[in-house]
Amino acid sequence: MKKATCTAPVNIAVIKYWGKRNEELILPINSSLSVTLNQDQLKTTTSIAASRDFTEDRIWLNGKEDNINHPRLQSCLREIRRLARKRRSDAEDDSVSRILNYKVHICSVNNFPTAAGLASSAAGYACLVYTLAKLYGVEGELSEIARQGSGSACRSMYGGFVQWIMGEKEDGKDSLAQQVEAESHWPELRILILVASAEKKHVGSTAGMQTSVKTSPLLKLRAESVVPGRMEEMIESIRKKDFESFGQLTMKDSNQFHATCLDTFPPIFYLNQVSQRIIHLVHRYNAYYGQTKVAYSFDAGPNAVIFTLEPTVNEFVEVVKRCFPPESNGDPFLKGLPVDEAPLSQELLSAVECDPCPGGVRYMIVTQPGPGPVESQDVSLDLLGPDGLPTQSI
Ligand code: DP6
Repeated sequence: MKKATCTAPVNIAVIKYWGKRNEELILPINSSLSVTLNQDQLKTTTSIAASRDFTEDRIWLNGKEDNINHPRLQSCLREIRRLARKRRSDAEDDSVSRILNYKVHICSVNNFPTAAGLASSAAGYACLVYTLAKLYGVEGELSEIARQGSGSACRSMYGGFVQWIMGEKEDGKDSLAQQVEAESHWPELRILILVASAEKKHVGSTAGMQTSVKTSPLLKLRAESVVPGRMEEMIESIRKKDFESFGQLTMKDSNQFHATCLDTFPPIFYLNQVSQRIIHLVHRYNAYYGQTKVAYSFDAGPNAVIFTLEPTVNEFVEVVKRCFPPESNGDPFLKGLPVDEAPLSQELLSAVECDPCPGGVRYMIVTQPGPGPVESQDVSLDLLGPDGLPTQSI
């Protein structure tokens, strides 16, 4: 039996991907840019084993067996095996050619609750592709394959600040992710994830963007006339570590993405009352200081992602707690990097004043930019036992 275990990160787009020009190859209608989050707080771990004794390919996700025939999963498996075969004929590597004929068992877990509505498909597919590549000894560019699992997954193949260049070719060979700056580039940058209490399940990204492409004239305008300029500006502000410009663009792009959702027919609403309160709170906080100290971004759900710099974290967390008094349910309200208590001045309190909404934010995860996927050398993290079956059920 040959095995590999790897971990991969979540990423949050600051220039959003929304809309495909090719559904099957997952080719986007615009380029996008994201920040890779640190795996100490959020990650997917995947173990894959190949053995002569396995009779079929199988997959377990978060402790439960899942459907291996999912078309996107099959695309990733097929493409990696194709690359491995190509390499084998180049390198005449016997051990690889042997395991290429074996079936695989795949076991994958997230270290964050899927129920929280945090996008897990990006980390999941990035981890799948990276682990398969390690198993089969495939090196080099892999974002093109991760993209075929889930569009945003291609950006989780690198750490730090990553752009997904939309490309022009019909076969998608030039629709790739590329690192803009490494995770060490902007050490003060912090990311807070505010998990909002949500009533019901929302429209998934894949279905949502399909309807938007078909019905929203604003989306077309955005892709053609707005995003190209914003990509350049965003890369520039990251290179210069200019938070004012980075924060403004991040908020504007999140708002435009949600505007295209409202422009979709029938409209899609991802933001709820809690999200709207957070938006107002951020603007009031920034207005008090007369500069952009914090910036929000929202994906296809009500959770807020806040970008800020290290010196602002303690105070802003305190402000959030005032506005959304934590409801104790046994779980800690704050997870991730340590946060110290910060006194709030009367002036600040009256500037950000809001009607307290207890429990509106269920908990917060404090994190920072982090590296791309890594192979684990620690056998205790192996999710598949010597029999090739999951060692734990979650
Ligand atoms: C709002 O990558 O989940 O998070 O390609 O259909 O799998 P598929 O969609 P997905 O869409 C992510 C949309 C987003 C914005 C972003 O991450 O850029």
